[in-house]
Amino acid sequence: MGNKVTTAVFPVAGLGTRFLPATKSVPKEIMTLVDRPLIQYAIDEARAAGITEFIFVTSRGKGALEDYFDLAPNLEEELKRKGKFDMLKVLEDTNMDSGAIAYVRQHKALGLGHAVWCARRLIGDQPFAVILPDDVIAAEKPCLQQMVEAYDETGGNMVAAMEVAPEKTSSYGILDVVNEEGNLLDVKGMVEKPKAEDSPSNLAVIGRYILSPSVLKNLDEMKKGAGGEIQLTDAIAAEIENKRKVYGYRFSGQRFDCGSKSGFLQATVAYGLARPELREDLAGYLRDIAPSL
Ligand code: G1P
Repeated sequence: MGNKVTTAVFPVAGLGTRFLPATKSVPKEIMTLVDRPLIQYAIDEARAAGITEFIFVTSRGKGALEDYFDLAPNLEEELKRKGKFDMLKVLEDTNMDSGAIAYVRQHKALGLGHAVWCARRLIGDQPFAVILPDDVIAAEKPCLQQMVEAYDETGGNMVAAMEVAPEKTSSYGILDVVNEEGNLLDVKGMVEKPKAEDSPSNLAVIGRYILSPSVLKNLDEMKKGAGGEIQLTDAIAAEIENKRKVYGYRFSGQRFDCGSKSGFLQATVAYGLARPELREDLAGYLRDIAPSL
């Protein structure tokens, strides 16, 4: 039912102040989870879901991100010369087709909705995905792929959803749900960062979206929402007011909030343990220190 989703937007304009001083010179999306930058996890997830066009919404100081996705011919030559073919393969897996990534700048930090709106001309009149690279999701079937499969049946708009502790609602977009069927939540309202006492539920939006182009039209209004920012949540909620469908999708997998230090460290441990070559060493260390924690 849904049109094929081939374009994804990656809002990567944020300052990353929570990771200062590192983010003085390194974009937070380049920070490494084990040995891969955060953005690589997001790109791999998008590719697995069938995305072929990648739009980065960047800002000043994000040049390292563009360089990361450039070919590294000298490095590749050197690795070939030294016979390091395993490393060469690692590099080649990060190569993107020429022209597959487009960059657009968000000139002012006016909010997530505004960042996505900045990509409107590149998106055009088709459904598109949004991936927030801070939300890293470990899953057997990548989260966006799960959503694309569900979206193929439903159309409309879809956001990834999971339950959070009631006292945490003020960190998320929160869903007001009328009905639930399997993994699909029928959404009748969305609020950005409500206080616990005003929150319609504890079902939070996690950073994976499949959106109809009409959301971009809603963003044209430039309405300010929570925190004085132009919120993506509000533009999606406007879809419901305009009698278009919004679904929450309860994904399978474990989500890490890599926008926070604690979440980043937890993800580092989980992804480290998932690597066969690191597991034994790391698990041994964790067992050693566990009794003293
Ligand atoms: C953004 C969205 C919010 C969503 C969250 C998921 O908030 O505005 O609706 O729940 O991502 O991580 P941020 O974390 O950028 O404050």
